[in-house]
Amino acid sequence: MGGSLLKWAGGKRQMIPYLMGLIPDSFGTYFEPFFGGGALYFELRRRGLLKKAVLSDTNSDLFNLYNVVMKKPLELCNSLKSLPYGNVKEHYYQARELFNNTGITKEPVLKSALLLYLNRHCFNGLFRVNSEGSFNVPFGRYKNPGMPDTDQILSVNEAFRDTVFRNEDFESAVSDAVEGDLVYFDPPYMPVSGTSHFTDYTSSGFREKDQIRLHRVAKELWDRGVYVIISNSSTDFLKELYKDFNLKEIMANRAINSIAERRGKVTELSITNFSASSIFPLNRT
Ligand SMILES: C[S@@+](CC[C@H](N)C(=O)[O-])C[C@H]1O[C@@H](n2cnc3c(N)ncnc32)[C@H](O)[C@@H]1O
Repeated sequence: MGGSLLKWAGGKRQMIPYLMGLIPDSFGTYFEPFFGGGALYFELRRRGLLKKAVLSDTNSDLFNLYNVVMKKPLELCNSLKSLPYGNVKEHYYQARELFNNTGITKEPVLKSALLLYLNRHCFNGLFRVNSEGSFNVPFGRYKNPGMPDTDQILSVNEAFRDTVFRNEDFESAVSDAVEGDLVYFDPPYMPVSGTSHFTDYTSSGFREKDQIRLHRVAKELWDRGVYVIISNSSTDFLKELYKDFNLKEIMANRAINSIAERRGKVTELSITNFSASSIFPLNRT
């Protein structure tokens, strides 16, 4: 079964072994309301640990792509095969222009195919739009970016079985979670320093007030008996905000930083409302 279809900024691939150790032995519906590339979701599916799932993201291009994968996978494969673009800078900018001029409602399949091409060829798997909503990430210069093939698209389609995808804010996306369900929140991280600028994943941005709202939503879920796991950066502000929860700090590799010396190990915070059994490295691999 397929892994992430996208290389997504802030993607959790490297954290999977650690996160797996936080997953309760049994739970009801799985909610992932900041879905992005969905690294943890695909791992849980691969291991057969999911029954029903409710996924969500406010990024409508992402929502459109997953919708097309769910409903029109073969049309998407054909559209991908017919894209006349290779791993060439000029092609990339032509594709980017076409993407920005293609409407989701009118041409959802072409828009999705272009998003996949851009995601594989752009700088660091970023999704960034300007104030007019145009995707403006530069060419990524990868030696061998690769594109998803028919098998991968079909296996991701299979991984979306018994799954609902919502194009909603995280708060409404988890409003129907009930006792015994599991919610994994992987929000845009709180900046560690004032200079960090990879916190706005959509043109709307995710600010301190949203971090506070997320804490409130997590508390409400806790009151309803829902298991909650949250990933974020380790800041004094968040450690204070979540002081009633179980907190663990983990050193993680963060590749998504354009300034070379800031790449490398950073401390991440994992927040749960239950005591997770495992200590890194894990008991559940
Ligand atoms: C850190 S990324 C998630 C990465 C993902 N876990 C992965 O493995 O690829 C955060 C995601 O949250 C989405 N997002 C931002 N604000 C949101 C909001 N208010 N509600 C729901 N999703 C939001 C962004 O579009 C982005 O895809």
